[in-house]
Amino acid sequence: MVNLKGRNFLKLLDYTPEEIQYLVDLAADLKAKKKQGIPVDTLRGKNVALIFEKTSTRTRCSFEVAAHDLGMGTTYLDPDGSQIGKKESIADTARVLGSMFDGIEYRGYGQEIVEELAKYAGVPVWNGLTNEFHPTQMLADLLTIQEHFGHIKGIKLTYMGDARYNMGNSLMVVCAKMGMHFTACTSRNYFPDEALVSECRKIAEETGATITLTEDAMEGTKGADVVYTDVWVSMGEPDEIWAARLKELYPYQVNKAIMENAGEQAVFMHCLPAYHDLKTKVGREVYEKFGVAELEVTDEVFESAQSIVFEEAENRMHTIKAVMAATLQ
Ligand code: CP
Ligand code: NVA
Repeated sequence: MVNLKGRNFLKLLDYTPEEIQYLVDLAADLKAKKKQGIPVDTLRGKNVALIFEKTSTRTRCSFEVAAHDLGMGTTYLDPDGSQIGKKESIADTARVLGSMFDGIEYRGYGQEIVEELAKYAGVPVWNGLTNEFHPTQMLADLLTIQEHFGHIKGIKLTYMGDARYNMGNSLMVVCAKMGMHFTACTSRNYFPDEALVSECRKIAEETGATITLTEDAMEGTKGADVVYTDVWVSMGEPDEIWAARLKELYPYQVNKAIMENAGEQAVFMHCLPAYHDLKTKVGREVYEKFGVAELEVTDEVFESAQSIVFEEAENRMHTIKAVMAATLQ
């Protein structure tokens, strides 16, 4: 019997496959109840703090809607609107917020910051994205895969692009844990950290997962069930690196040829936000400077029937609700 009461949710390396599956199934149940109009507001009277040192649409809205659905109050601390890190240490902030709130979400920079927050808070802390990991996104991705394919184990997931950052790392970990076949398909400068690859390969021995690293875009995507990508420049990275990223990662753009090579069964996934057209400020700036209009994914793939990115985005809310419900109940 899985019991996650009082636990932090900082990275999926801390969770067993059974616990991860429990959270996905709880999310599916909460989603079904919400669709049927059955309220689940069992956390009435509790309050959560939402700290965002980087911007967000999905994660923030998911925490707020999920908390309100569960009957809780929320306080949002924006990237500039608090003393955190500037006038007050993480340890002091943790003890202050831990005395007022029942749980704390943190989105920011180094993983060590959210780990430090959790050490001192005395209440569950949830990682809403760090440079290294994005664990709540992983639950949404698993729920989406489970809904689409009917199962998770054995699914072949190929990640293209910047595989050495939060999304590449997290997907490799979650695939290792859940017995999936993970391929990082990118330039070798963007392969995940070697120590993390070794750790995941060790986990994979137990679960039947496989971890493959390849620079060959066609070999890496052949027969993939899920072709996944993310932005080439992440939040907090300097604008100057766009030139190098475009040069090195353009061969790993998800386009029609890649999806055809993967096969008819393949779906396209992306944590979002995505640069697939010129309807964003950054997308236009990159176009004006470098003449490239579609970046990590073409508009054709993004808008195609194989793309399940909006189902995936909706599932952020149901899975974040499951994390709060399981750790606070
Ligand atoms: N996928 C994701 O984390 O989106 P936001 O940055 O909008 O929260
Ligand atoms: N790698 C991206 C993920 C956004 C959800 C970033 O860190 O900006």
